[in-house]
Amino acid sequence: AEYVLGIDIGGTNTKFGLVDREGNVKDEGHFPTQADADINAFLSLLETHISHLIADNQVIGAGVGAPNGNYYKGTIEHAPNLNWGEIVEFRELFQEKFKIPVALTNDANAAALGEMLFGGAKGMKDFVLFTLGTGLGSGIVVDGKLVYGYSGMAGEIGHVSVNPDGRHCACGRKGCLETYVSATGIKRTVSKLMADYTRPSVLRDVPYNQIDGKVITDAAKNHDYIAIKAFEYTGKILGQKLADTVLHTSPKTIFLFGGLVKAGEYLLDPAKHYMEEKMFKPFKNMVDLRPSSLMDKNAAVLGAAALGWTEFDKVAP
Ligand code: BGC
Ligand code: NA
Ligand code: ZN
Repeated sequence: AEYVLGIDIGGTNTKFGLVDREGNVKDEGHFPTQADADINAFLSLLETHISHLIADNQVIGAGVGAPNGNYYKGTIEHAPNLNWGEIVEFRELFQEKFKIPVALTNDANAAALGEMLFGGAKGMKDFVLFTLGTGLGSGIVVDGKLVYGYSGMAGEIGHVSVNPDGRHCACGRKGCLETYVSATGIKRTVSKLMADYTRPSVLRDVPYNQIDGKVITDAAKNHDYIAIKAFEYTGKILGQKLADTVLHTSPKTIFLFGGLVKAGEYLLDPAKHYMEEKMFKPFKNMVDLRPSSLMDKNAAVLGAAALGWTEFDKVAP
């Protein structure tokens, strides 16, 4: 069988796998991205994981999703959560090393393509997908096409401002949506709430670097006040920004994607509530907000591979 190698580069982990035409994933794996090392160190590490996959299988190409990925240029530009330099010529470096065709786009754009090819957005013409990871990414599909814009980098809603004097963002600006709504954003909210309230919380006993979406979700399930409040606050800011998002392109569905979404109702209920509360009247009760249908299926790798299938196979599934 023919495969596309899907690679999802995250601020924390990199995931990969071989994906066939039907969206079955095999030989999947992951490793810490080493965001603080340099691109050459990353490529060498990647090599140890993927070179045998390329040698032993019929791989028609690779699809890569990366933060601040530029689809037109194949570059990664000023990625806030990667310390690899301002402009990384990823496509060129990758091709030189692995000698297979490669296409690159923003990780959230890739996830949106995955949803279109293999997931809940099959046949859907207008939708937006948000990915809540280390950062917050978005992929915008209008009239059946992913929006790349003039630059090749359109759809960066994570850096829309929700508060001009708000939290510092890794991108150098202040108050970006991702500083509130992301795995790192909710952690910042948890520490703020622990400082503002004296209530007991299991989270007080967890070292800061071990607090993550799962720990907060487990605490919320045990009725932890700080954890529940953290989700409410995160969901509120998300919901309000979703209502604004709808104004731009009128999506039918908004998909949420990424580890934090496993929190389920703790995040979704406030997000839905505040989205509808803030919705411009003509769009009220029109938008379906739901988790990605690929959540439990290595969705990030499927998304990256979806890009490869669309690029390199003219009869994509
Ligand atoms: C980056 C986006 C990316 C998102 C999720 C943000 O910080 O700017 O390009 O999609 O993180 O990884
Ligand atoms: Na995007
Ligand atoms: Zn930012």
